[in-house]
Amino acid sequence: MENLKNKICLVTGASSGIGKGIAEIMAKAGAQVIMVSRNKSRGRENFREIKNYATNNVEWIPTELCSIESINELALEFKSKFSKLDILFNCAGDKIMKKYYTVDGFDGLFFSNYLGHFLLTNLLFEPLKNAENSKVITISGRAHKSSLTKGKFKSAIDFTDLQGNSHFSYAKYAKQATLAKIIFAYELSRRWGKYNIASTTLCPGLCRTNQGEYFPWLLKVLLPLIYMLKDPQTPKEGAMHLINLSLKHNSEINGKYFEGDKKGLFEVKSSDESYDVSTGKKLWEESKKLITQRYNLNLIN
Ligand SMILES: NC(=O)c1ccc[n+]([C@@H]2O[C@H](COP(=O)([O-])OP(=O)(O)OC[C@H]3O[C@@H](n4cnc5c(N)ncnc54)[C@H](OP(=O)(O)O)[C@@H]3O)[C@@H](O)[C@H]2O)c1
Repeated sequence: MENLKNKICLVTGASSGIGKGIAEIMAKAGAQVIMVSRNKSRGRENFREIKNYATNNVEWIPTELCSIESINELALEFKSKFSKLDILFNCAGDKIMKKYYTVDGFDGLFFSNYLGHFLLTNLLFEPLKNAENSKVITISGRAHKSSLTKGKFKSAIDFTDLQGNSHFSYAKYAKQATLAKIIFAYELSRRWGKYNIASTTLCPGLCRTNQGEYFPWLLKVLLPLIYMLKDPQTPKEGAMHLINLSLKHNSEINGKYFEGDKKGLFEVKSSDESYDVSTGKKLWEESKKLITQRYNLNLIN
């Protein structure tokens, strides 16, 4: 943990669950922590709490990760204060199980889980490049390859209806968002590896967090039952998997996928589709197009 001292890290989803666990552990280890979450009272409360543990600078930048403008403001504010970024933890993501649109007219599930982090990472290219052996660690999930993804719900990127605007199904698009994060992490590793920026992704395993906050009532009732049967990790145990990745050498993690549980964190294979280089390239280009069509932003290669 000594290696984390004075590292600058930005954590999305830092007001709750795994992201909050990361912010707390990093703050205690003496890193400079920039917490990112929406402008909610719990964001402020958690910021105050984590500041108390800190031996170094902790900041909270309230950000709506479903808004291009808000993400751009976050990147500008970060760059006005810091010239480098050692570790970007892409942790935020909601689980609202119905179709909704962001202020810019994107599908909310797609944007909050995937496209917002694609944009944020891009806008932080310079500070990531300025740090020595920087890392982008993106939470994804095992669910992208579960048996439920066969047949109709096969896990794949549907370029004909990327955001489920013609026909939305949560089962299909939640898996697509998770797969998109893995494909993005791999594509990033191919594009930015040459700048000594490592990109990796992981499923932390089941953790007892606030992930059921927006579930429909029946699932809310079932979740404690699932927890009883599955013996989940604490948010901090989940967070430790990401911290452990941040402690590794870039060459050990770049372009790799890991899965964690109570026994530890292991490098494993993600689904076959996730390794398809042409899909990675296409998703990157489509994502860039979607954002620049709405907003005049200078995104990296
Ligand atoms: N828990 C698990 O078992 C598990 C397993 C595998 C993968 N994951 C993944 O791990 C990640 C973290 O999940 P968690 O379980 O820690 O969930 P959580 O406790 O519900 O935390 C979610 C975090 O994301 C933030 N967030 C959501 N939408 C946002 C938006 N539009 N703008 C800004 N911030 C936003 C929330 O901030 P606010 O306070 O502002 O709402 C909160 O800090 C998710 O991507 C999840 O899919 C979780």
